[in-house]
Amino acid sequence: MARIIALLAIVFASLATSAAGAASPRNVLPQPATNADFHDLGQSDAAKVALGAQLFYDKVLSGNFNISCATCHHSFTGTGDGLALPIGEGGRGLGVARDTGIGADAVHERVPRNAPHVFNLGASEFEILFHDGRVQPNPDFPNGIESPAGHDLPDGLDNVLAVQAMFPVTSGTEMAGQPGENPVADAAAAGNLAGPGGVWEQLAERLQGLPGYVDQFVAVFPDVVTAGDIRFTHAANAIAAFEAANWRSDNSPFDRFLRGERGAMSRAQVKGMRVFYSRRKGNCASCHSGTFQTDHSFRAVAMPQIGPGKGDGVGYEDFGRERVTGDVRDRYRFRVPTLRNVALTAPYGHGGAYDTLEAVVRHHLDPVASLKDYDPAQLRLPGRPDLDAGDLAAMNDAAVVEAIASANELAEMHLSEREIGYLIDFLHALTDPAMLDLRGDVPRSLPSGLPLGD
Ligand code: HEC
Ligand code: HEC
Repeated sequence: MARIIALLAIVFASLATSAAGAASPRNVLPQPATNADFHDLGQSDAAKVALGAQLFYDKVLSGNFNISCATCHHSFTGTGDGLALPIGEGGRGLGVARDTGIGADAVHERVPRNAPHVFNLGASEFEILFHDGRVQPNPDFPNGIESPAGHDLPDGLDNVLAVQAMFPVTSGTEMAGQPGENPVADAAAAGNLAGPGGVWEQLAERLQGLPGYVDQFVAVFPDVVTAGDIRFTHAANAIAAFEAANWRSDNSPFDRFLRGERGAMSRAQVKGMRVFYSRRKGNCASCHSGTFQTDHSFRAVAMPQIGPGKGDGVGYEDFGRERVTGDVRDRYRFRVPTLRNVALTAPYGHGGAYDTLEAVVRHHLDPVASLKDYDPAQLRLPGRPDLDAGDLAAMNDAAVVEAIASANELAEMHLSEREIGYLIDFLHALTDPAMLDLRGDVPRSLPSGLPLGD
């Protein structure tokens, strides 16, 4: 009898838990992505996409002809570079094999932020780009988009991705080179982007001089009749079409699950999804909400600050969103990243502090403790003594660490080891298998004749 009562008690207890489970507050599951979520950026125009692919991989857009967009956003490294912080112009090689270069050509400094992946940025909800959102909608600016070029941004850019593509070529460290090395670098250093002899005009002239490109620009753009009509904005529009067409990625097991395909996710992944979306458990969707797991907001989550920073505060700090808004309440807030294909895009965080998915997930569970106990052994950075010396400047400054900690707005959460494991399994369900092998993105040759190597 006692055993029967005990058994009944267990049955009732489990009924009670499942009833509570059903009523438990839960962030809603997103809608599956559809075609309507994506702009038509001309991705249906195969010639435009093919032109964009060549430009994306061509070092002709860099001052010293030694780096392309793809060096930091390569198809072999999940459209990122596999490093905590990129090695810009002057470095040699790809991904984790990249070095800091040699002699006078060697890199001068580290690029201060992690290179994000470029998946799904053709979806119309991605209106704000960069870790601090410095490219964002604003009707008062050319093309309706506010950017570092302000009112100097030329008209005729198709969308936010095209606007973004105007900027890497203007950065000395990323693509232009150091003043004195080449005329593009000189113009960039003088802040001459849009003027006569500016960065954009010089690069357009390079393209105008390459017949293999001219023919394609004439075929793709109705307003390009002769070589002299080519502007850098045309190149940016083609690059945007390529990025949007090739890196749309909405066929992960999670997408298929949302579209009603039972069994698309493993049981562990379904459990991880519940942890992710439950307010009482992971509560991840209070920030990583919506179809692409981001609400596009800016939050301070006590992410370790690695590298030279953006020159803020004592010098090696990065104030994040405050740099754009000027509002001190935005200090150390960074963009909530999309988690699509996140298993393919390590290292993580705006400074690439965490090398594994598990480490960045554990950071979220107790952000301040994780910041203070940060283990720099995981930093994935090509070394050079003078560069290495600055990598932990912020982390070795107790006052800076304290300031980052006190700005934290991510509550601690208590998950069991098993739940953490499920959560990581779920994050793997956000990988679209079509993105695992992107070798087909790489063009076979380039009109400039420059090598495709890195
Ligand atoms: C030296 C490495 C490097 C090169 C070369 C480079 N990028 Fe990037 N890219 C970055 C970094 C770093 C960021 C983030 C910067 C930030 O947020 O402040 C970024 C951001 C972006 C973003 C925004 C992603 C997002 O989620 O907000 C896009 C799109 C992009 N780059 C495309 C390009 C294109 C197109 C080119 C070539 C014209 C290019 N990149 C060249 C390193 C690079
Ligand atoms: C308060 C908002 C917030 C919540 C809640 C939140 N995150 Fe984040 N998450 C962020 C922000 C902001 C970043 C980027 C911080 C940075 O770059 O400095 C981030 C980064 C990440 C990254 C790294 C992605 C990348 O590309 O670098 C992963 C993975 C991640 N979050 C997973 C989770 C999971 C899993 C949960 C739930 C346990 C969660 N997040 C809850 C705001 C949040």
